[in-house]
Amino acid sequence: MIINLSETNSLVGEWMSEIRDEIIQTDRMRFRRNLERLGEVAAYEISKTLTFVDKEVQTPLGTATCGVIKQQPVLGTILRAGLALHQGLVNYFDKADHAYISAYRKHNRDGSFEISLEYVSCPPLDGQVLILSDPMLATGASLVKTIDHLAEFGKPAHIHIVTAIACTIGIEYVQRNADANIISIWAGDIDDELTAKGYIVPGLGDAGDLAFGTKVQQ
Ligand code: URA
Repeated sequence: MIINLSETNSLVGEWMSEIRDEIIQTDRMRFRRNLERLGEVAAYEISKTLTFVDKEVQTPLGTATCGVIKQQPVLGTILRAGLALHQGLVNYFDKADHAYISAYRKHNRDGSFEISLEYVSCPPLDGQVLILSDPMLATGASLVKTIDHLAEFGKPAHIHIVTAIACTIGIEYVQRNADANIISIWAGDIDDELTAKGYIVPGLGDAGDLAFGTKVQQ
């Protein structure tokens, strides 16, 4: 299932316009906060797909029956660019366990790159709903590598991928190379073009650098 959150008019369109805008995105705090807001909306939308149970709650005046989430999802993010989006998910799924994965593009002299996966911290995943955040689903290679690696921790019942911008080529790559039956992709928007260097067009630029500053290329 692919969900483009910009397909229907909502505040997401407003935030995406700021996230993409080359002037507004120089306000680093606003850039991060907009990603966080997107994570919050994605959390709300994903919550509608979870299993709920009734809970009796004693109010000062009587008993109310409320629907509550049966089992909290696991929230995983790809460092470092995923952190702002992840924070939005954490704000809403505040009782969830977390997973952190460091996956980055290790560049070769000729401009090509491989995905290097180094640090992984993850709770058991068997039967869990896993929500993985990564702001840019570009080639899809880092997400597939991450999903493959996380298999060591158990088989999730479902994986929700939350991204600010997904590229169609990357979506297709994930669908081809991971178990599409258990994967949903929630995107702030979807773009069609990917440059030879793996950047989404029109995209937004480098999400990690915009959120946290430029880094020394490795
Ligand atoms: N990562 C980014 O930050 N931007 C892109 O366009 C692609 C990958």
